[in-house]
Amino acid sequence: MDIDKINWGELPFAYFKTDYNVRCYYRDGQWGEVEVSSSEYVPIHIAATCLHYGQEAFEGIKAFRGVDGKLRVFRWEENAKRMRESAKGIMMAEVPDDVYKEAIMKVIKLNEKYVPPYGTGAALYIRPLLMGTGPQVGVRPATEYMFMIFVGPVGPYFKEGFSPVKIQLVRDYDRAAPQGTGHIKVGGNYAASLRPAERAKKEGYSSVLFLDSHKRKHIDEAGPANFFGVKGNTYITPDSHTILPSITNMSIRTLAKDMGMKVDMRNVLVEELDEFDEVGACGTAAIITPICMIDDRETGKQYRYCKDGKTGPISTKLYNKLRAIQFGEEPDPYNWNTIID
Ligand code: PLP
Ligand code: COI
Repeated sequence: MDIDKINWGELPFAYFKTDYNVRCYYRDGQWGEVEVSSSEYVPIHIAATCLHYGQEAFEGIKAFRGVDGKLRVFRWEENAKRMRESAKGIMMAEVPDDVYKEAIMKVIKLNEKYVPPYGTGAALYIRPLLMGTGPQVGVRPATEYMFMIFVGPVGPYFKEGFSPVKIQLVRDYDRAAPQGTGHIKVGGNYAASLRPAERAKKEGYSSVLFLDSHKRKHIDEAGPANFFGVKGNTYITPDSHTILPSITNMSIRTLAKDMGMKVDMRNVLVEELDEFDEVGACGTAAIITPICMIDDRETGKQYRYCKDGKTGPISTKLYNKLRAIQFGEEPDPYNWNTIID
């Protein structure tokens, strides 16, 4: 696409063809060199374990063009660590940090012209993917893996941006089993979320709120993001083996603490939805998305937030602080950004 024709401020969260992606292969027990490709396709063995047994995991990271013109990647080390956890969880070869870093830096530099300009609010989304490419017909881990990363400029995940969204609480679908793979970023979790998510969209909601899959008493994931609530001066977010440990949420908890708030990470009962002053979803793609209404699809109970349709003051403050660090508008005392030369 002609770079001059991109409307950076109106970008959706969608696939965007850029010039290059990077790939690295694990064969005979070791990782090879990081290779550059301009093809959007990967040739794959018909018996590859990622195709048959879901042996694959992905990640999401963002890079930002700062107010000073510098390019920053947000917390890639945490991201690399989480992909290693995913790899362990479904018995894939782990990508070493040096390979992960080289691949990220290379793919960003190669596609630098697609990093949205400062002031547009958009970012370069980085999508690492690790998959079992070796053949198996028995249910066994592959002996060969492919690690690849593509990138593309994106706007916020929910088209509302930082405006409040409507969420549907569902009780007839689970995203992940109590002792399953909810805590790692494997494709199967997302496959399981497709039916309720598409139904919710058809019924007028942006996303779904899952409950714990054991007793359906506690709040779980908010679609492709973590859930949080604010009660007085306390930031509350669910803690469970079925929830992905969000790097955005981890960062927000640090910001909240440093703003003098109390941070509570624990099981959150559904009934507590009545007690929150503000609620929202957070993640790399979702950033901080305020929630103005939650409707329980089964019981019909409605929860309402954001007086006059406005985002609450604490969500706003946390959002502004996070974005200011990501765009280099404020110092980064936590060393979350890696500046790319
Ligand atoms: N939960 C789910 C299910 C997700 O897909 C994501 C996105 O990565 C998150 C939470 C947020 O995690 P992070 O902030 O690390 O992107
Ligand atoms: C992210 O926030 O990076 C995600 O992976 C969420 C979703 C697009 C799957």
